[in-house]
Parts: sequence; structure tokens; C-alpha cells
Amino acid sequence: MTDMLLLITMHVSKEIFMEYVLITGGTSGIGYELARVFAQNGFGILIAASNSEKLSMVKNSLSEEFHTEVETYKKDLSKFGAAEELYKEITGGHSEISVLVNNAGYGLKGETQNIGIEEDRNMLILNMMTLAELTKLFLKDRYQKGSGKVLNVSSTGAFQPGPYTSSFFASKAFVLSYSRAVRYEAKTWNTGLHIMSRCYKDRFLSKRGSQNSKGCHESGECGPACISQPDEK
Ligand SMILES: NC(=O)c1ccc[n+]([C@@H]2O[C@H](COP(=O)([O-])OP(=O)(O)OC[C@H]3O[C@@H](n4cnc5c(N)ncnc54)[C@H](OP(=O)(O)O)[C@@H]3O)[C@@H](O)[C@H]2O)c1
Repeated sequence: MTDMLLLITMHVSKEIFMEYVLITGGTSGIGYELARVFAQNGFGILIAASNSEKLSMVKNSLSEEFHTEVETYKKDLSKFGAAEELYKEITGGHSEISVLVNNAGYGLKGETQNIGIEEDRNMLILNMMTLAELTKLFLKDRYQKGSGKVLNVSSTGAFQPGPYTSSFFASKAFVLSYSRAVRYEAKTWNTGLHIMSRCYKDRFLSKRGSQNSKGCHESGECGPACISQPDEK
């Protein structure tokens, strides 16, 4: 009887006290490493990405290693409307999200006119629209609660124009500018909005996009990888 009570109490406490983080693109790179850190700190993990095999591998490895709840959502977030669908799917059937990490994104390289319109459109939706829509939906909920955190992953590409990575750099400038503005608004709501900017390395831009790049990573003008945060309090 006592054991049963203990089990029920544990279950109820978990339901009440477990905090959930939604990480877009949590199946590899920065997103995956962040998922591990959150899992290590007792968060329930919600991951959205487009490849179901990678999602199930990550689900198994995180739940085995950290014994925490891991839910995955297969969604191509480079399509209009995908962010809203995802958010409704999660909040409709799940506990509330207390931390949002907008991490999914990639960069196309090449001369602007040679990057396909659809390729560019998909990247811009993923890097900007999805991030802005998830932020908006999340903040609406969290302002009512009076707590919550958003981490929008930008890039040092946000700080200057990027010839041969024109729309990628511009999309990350959007992320930075949008996040700073929302962060300012959020001050009055006691909800922290965090911005992470990260330098890219060769591997990153060579994963997708045109092969004929003349970007700074080839000319050797890029600095070493780093993490920076604009110091707005
Ligand atoms: N790595 C760097 O040096 C660097 C530098 C500057 C900025 N960043 C920024 O940091 C973030 C993460 O970069 P990373 O290098 O860690 O990326 P990564 O290893 O390539 O991982 C990207 C993640 O996003 C997901 N993703 C990609 N396209 C998606 C789509 N259409 N819908 C849903 N999920 C999608 C991927 O999963 P699926 O493929 O399964 O969908 C994966 O989980 C990005 O926003 C990137 O712009 C990275």
C-alpha cells in the first residue's frame, strides 16, 4: 500500500514539477548537445526535426542515458505553417513547455542568383518564420504564467553582410534583431529571452548549398569558433 502511494506520489510530482524544453533540430550538432545538457539537468525533452530515424535514435540514447522523458516530433519546419502545427500538436497533447530553443537552421552558400528560389525560400522559412512563429506562440503562453526562457540560435553572420552567403547571413541578422526587440518587450513580463550567437566553421556551410562558394571560410578570414551573447540586460 505504502509502495503504491509512493508510486502515485512520484508520478503526480513528475507531472506537476517536470519542466519541458522544446528544441528544434535537437537531433544533431548544437541542438543535440543542448538536449543532453537539459536532460542532465532533469528536463523533459521535446525534439522536433525532419528525419524520423535520427529522431528515434536520439530519443533512445537520451532516455537511456539520462532516464528522462523524451518526446519527438517529425516535422519539416521549412514549410509555411509547420511551426503552428508543431506547437498545437505539442501543447494539445502534452504538458506545457517552459523553455523554447529555436535551433534548427542551416546556411546556403554560393552566388545569390545561383541559389534556387525554392531552396532559398525553405531556408528562410526555417531560419526566420518558424523561429518567429514559435517564439510568438510560446511567449503568449508564458507571459500568462510569468516565466519561461527562449534561446534563439543566431550566428556571427548576423553582424555583417555575407557575400556568397547573402540570405543566410541576412536571416541570422533577422534572428538577432527580432530577438533583441522581443527581449526588450519581455523585460516587463519577467520572461528572459536569450540570444546565442555562434561563429560558423567550414563543415557547417559545406553541408548544404552550392559548391562554388567564395565565402570567408575559404579565404581564411573567419575567426575561430566562438560563442557570444550581446550583453543586454
Ligand atoms: N555549426 C556551426 O558552426 C553554426 C554556425 C553558425 C550558426 N549555426 C546555427 O546553429 C544552429 C544549429 O547548427 P548545427 O550546425 O548544430 O546544425 P546541424 O548539426 O546541421 O543540425 C541541424 C538540426 O536541424 C534540423 N533540421 C534541419 N532542417 C530541418 C527542417 N527543415 N525541419 C526540421 N528540422 C530541421 C536537423 O535535423 P533533420 O535534418 O533531421 O531535420 C538537425 O537536427 C543553426 O540554426 C545554425 O544556423 C551553426
